[in-house]
Amino acid sequence: MRVGLVGKRALVTGASQGIGRGIVEVFARLGVRCVTAARRKDILEEHAQELIATGGVAPVPIEVDLFEDNAASYLFEHAENALGGVDILVNAAGRSKAPDAPRQTPFNHPSELWEKELHLNYVVLRELTFMVLPSMQERKYGRIINVTGKSEPEKLSTANPPKAAVHAWAKGLSRLIALDGVTINQISPGKIVSEQMLANYSAQELEAYGKKDIPLGRLGAPEELGYLAAFLASPEAGYITGAVIPVDGGMKRYAF
Ligand SMILES: NC(=O)c1ccc[n+]([C@@H]2O[C@H](COP(=O)([O-])OP(=O)(O)OC[C@H]3O[C@@H](n4cnc5c(N)ncnc54)[C@H](OP(=O)(O)O)[C@@H]3O)[C@@H](O)[C@H]2O)c1
Repeated sequence: MRVGLVGKRALVTGASQGIGRGIVEVFARLGVRCVTAARRKDILEEHAQELIATGGVAPVPIEVDLFEDNAASYLFEHAENALGGVDILVNAAGRSKAPDAPRQTPFNHPSELWEKELHLNYVVLRELTFMVLPSMQERKYGRIINVTGKSEPEKLSTANPPKAAVHAWAKGLSRLIALDGVTINQISPGKIVSEQMLANYSAQELEAYGKKDIPLGRLGAPEELGYLAAFLASPEAGYITGAVIPVDGGMKRYAF
């Protein structure tokens, strides 16, 4: 099977590192023109050069801090101008904890820090979705893919409430837009090698974790989510919407 992605246009947030970058890697090789967004434009530019050198479609990097006021509208306008329209939105920006936050979130963690994670992991992606939706509905084609997380919290974490909010909100939205040719789906990563992971855990900790807690015995690679994202973005996945699909090496413990 081939996925029909040649010539499609995607806006990918969180594209400088980890899962977002892995998705761009796969998209560019399958003929998708991407606007890549993150704060570190130098990394986005280097990656664009690597992709061009290896035969991928050249991405257009955009520097944006999603904590800034009006970040979503700034990003949307730049993506529209650069691409002439957005067929695919991938919301991959996020973090499971702030760089200076404790590994274990205390129960009395300050409200503004809970709200900050809600903003980055839910509010901004909802705003961006509403901005890209009208023209997707007009063209009768759109794919929204949110990179979220698992719904089985092992400990208290500021990341869990926003991911659960995305799952519930997207399910509702999927029903409203289904007949317009627009789908919205979530990819729920298990433990994927990323900058965030490498900053929070040592290489030995990650290897030991993979052997002990992941049936496939290792952490995932960002491109392994990229393949699912490419399928979900394609016309061939038009009958899948409102879903939360894990890519986790079998890590999820429950059948439902
Ligand atoms: N990796 C995993 O195992 C795992 C597991 C469960 C869920 N997730 C979720 O998957 C998503 C991607 O995670 P990842 O592991 O790929 O993380 P990562 O390697 O840390 O990458 C995060 C991306 O988000 C961007 N970003 C962060 N804050 C931003 C801001 N304020 N403005 C604009 N861009 C921002 C970063 O770019 P800049 O720093 O250049 O701005 C980077 O490109 C996150 O929502 C995470 O919670 C990941």
